[in-house]
Amino acid sequence: MKRSRSISPAVAILVAEALAFVVVLASLPGQTFAGKTSAFVRKDEKAVDMPLDSDVFRVPPGYNAPQQVHITQGDCDGLAVIVSWVTPDEPGSSLVLYGTSENDLILSANGKVEQYRYYNYTSGYIHHCTIRNLKYDTVYYYAVGVDQTLRKFWFTTPPEVGPDVPYTFGLIGDLGQSFDSNNTLTHYELNPRKGKTVLFVGDLSYADNYLNHDNVRWDTWGRFIERCAAYQPWIWTAGNHEIDFAPDIGETEPFKPYKHRFHVPYTASGSTAALWYSIKRASAYIIVLSSYSAYGKYTPQFKWLEAELPKVNRSQTPWLIVLMHSPWYNSYNYHYMEGETMRVMYEPWFVNYKVDVVFAGHVHAYERSERISNVAYNIVNGQCSPVPDQSAPVYITIGDGGNQEGLATNMTEPQPNYSAFREASFGHAIFDIKNRTHAYYSWHRNEDGYAVEADKMWFTNRFWHPTEESSAYVMHSLH
Ligand SMILES: [Fe+2]
Repeated sequence: MKRSRSISPAVAILVAEALAFVVVLASLPGQTFAGKTSAFVRKDEKAVDMPLDSDVFRVPPGYNAPQQVHITQGDCDGLAVIVSWVTPDEPGSSLVLYGTSENDLILSANGKVEQYRYYNYTSGYIHHCTIRNLKYDTVYYYAVGVDQTLRKFWFTTPPEVGPDVPYTFGLIGDLGQSFDSNNTLTHYELNPRKGKTVLFVGDLSYADNYLNHDNVRWDTWGRFIERCAAYQPWIWTAGNHEIDFAPDIGETEPFKPYKHRFHVPYTASGSTAALWYSIKRASAYIIVLSSYSAYGKYTPQFKWLEAELPKVNRSQTPWLIVLMHSPWYNSYNYHYMEGETMRVMYEPWFVNYKVDVVFAGHVHAYERSERISNVAYNIVNGQCSPVPDQSAPVYITIGDGGNQEGLATNMTEPQPNYSAFREASFGHAIFDIKNRTHAYYSWHRNEDGYAVEADKMWFTNRFWHPTEESSAYVMHSLH
């Protein structure tokens, strides 16, 4: 007969106390990381695309009326804007009328019109017009279309580039066109601290999930975002859903629909491709990279980034922000390590040049990292774990726009040390630059009221004020 292996009550109490002590230690602010997996559990519902006859996809009235109007920065410094739109029936006019007085658009610029085919789909007439020599920090009104279908919008140019210029960016990724996508955009628009420019981290329409990549869903997406993107610039990053590579239906030109529809000012930063480029805006220097273009040594993207980073003058633009689609640090069991090869190539540069923050998407959830790096590994030394590094960026995954593929809910357990906060909910974020030393960052989940911050952190600039901002400190001090 076996003896049962019971422990005495006294020993049980000792074990419980020891465990409690370990838990308390782990939750103390200070040297050790204490990553947080949010206790908030979102009701698990499949995100469903809005039907074609949804009001948010409404075609503007009138023959050949311009639709899918959106703007982006058109040069390095923010004194130019690219206005893009589609006319469905005939080319029409590529003219943009603009001015600082709503009823007196005395200036004009002429753009170009293009069209593309994708399998059995033929696009509308896609117009792109760059308006230049604008004044800083000024409201401009602009109009596209002709006669009775003239449509008017407005935007505000950024303040002049400078080190202490406050500016607020919104962050949205992997948006798609589901009911949840609509919630995300609405929450962004109604956030009392709404950004002045959207940094979009890739995966736009998800049209490629439809049969033959039905490009009609690119058009609906363009109409969906117009309510925001016609009034403030969206800075574009390409994701995997922009590749649209489908040799089975004869479509072998990667990024074809994306490149026709979303022009960016890549030549202004010396880039040779629309998929990687940089802009300056207020006090920020924003570098956009392509996770799905060659980035190995000697490739165009590598050569460009190698020459680009030394150009960043932190006395002019203190905040160095990088956008990419596939995250380097991600502790969800989705797309795990897909960003690894790019990390191996570029992470030493990011640490050397003290990038403040890297925003990525791809994983349909939210996560914020500690400041960590993983650059010591050289195959033979075995040093292959991320370590705290105050010269390293914070990595934020914001692929939680709400697309039809649903949420990534399955996480690596236990939470790795490099992960500071993670939650599987849809939402958006705000990066609010105050001056050269401080920026306030917040993440907003769709389930909350518009002003609620589900995650937050004070960033201190890595060049001007590189103090430690451990998440434990942040979580304890701000609550
Ligand atoms: Fe993606």
